Amino acid sequence: MKLVLEGIGHAFLGRAVFEKLDFSLAPGEVVALLGPSGCGKTTLLQIAAGLIDPLRGRIRRSYRRHAVVFQESRLLPWVTTRDNISYGLRVTGGKSTSHRQIAERRAREVGLHPNDLDKYPVELSGGMRQRAAVARALAVDPDVIFFDEPFTAVDVGLKRVLQDLVIAAAAREHFSALFVTHDLSEAVRVADRLVVLSEGGTGFVTNRRIDGRPGDRSDRAIFDMMEAWSRDPAFSELFDGERKGLP
Ligand SMILES: Nc1ncnc2c1ncn2[C@@H]1O[C@H](COP(=O)(O)OP(=O)(O)OP(=O)(O)O)[C@@H](O)[C@H]1O
Ligand SMILES: [Mg+2]
Repeated sequence: MKLVLEGIGHAFLGRAVFEKLDFSLAPGEVVALLGPSGCGKTTLLQIAAGLIDPLRGRIRRSYRRHAVVFQESRLLPWVTTRDNISYGLRVTGGKSTSHRQIAERRAREVGLHPNDLDKYPVELSGGMRQRAAVARALAVDPDVIFFDEPFTAVDVGLKRVLQDLVIAAAAREHFSALFVTHDLSEAVRVADRLVVLSEGGTGFVTNRRIDGRPGDRSDRAIFDMMEAWSRDPAFSELFDGERKGLP
């Protein structure tokens, strides 16, 4: 296992988010983490990524490097796209010419145009910024990538393109990933397995493999799976949560 969480419990201001969660990530496995808003998905991702310390539990990491992609791109505004993408390489040492080359290759892989590399983040569209954020994550050759709703703010058509980039990168580079999303169709497209975290700290309500491989599933297969699962009690909280969220 690349990552094992055991008996994880966390609370903010004395209010429990979850208790005794167990979770593991196998080599090359992409796991989608779903659940209603406020159930603790980001908290769990941040614990897994070592960004916050849990109050209880153990974490075992068997990998060299990880990267995180957030909902907002979190690019440095005063640095060009090229230097943003290669930012994480500064700590690894090496020549700046090779950093440039890595940034350029990763930018190409996520569909950024060479002209975009000299632009500052403010000059990029939202979708281009998320592409750059994915390129920055890939640049460090991570063994594990944590995605926290990376494509929630981009429009539907572009979302699919960005999902396909992640699917292709995972197939090519064999990293493991924890992919937080609100969107069941996104989960079913990008992941090998999905887990749903309940509201109210009672843990995972379901943990299931998704048939086929990401990238090989037809739109029909994805639609059929979603149809079946939307009637499944394990997902009811998810859909109720989404309905509650409507204006
Ligand atoms: N820094 C913090 N201080 C206090 N409470 C927090 C903090 N971060 C999160 N919480 C609370 O912990 C709970 C879980 O939050 P979290 O952000 O993990 O949810 P989430 O599932 O990611 O939600 P969303 O889908 O809206 O992103 C929520 O009740 C939230 O208000
Ligand atoms: Mg969140």
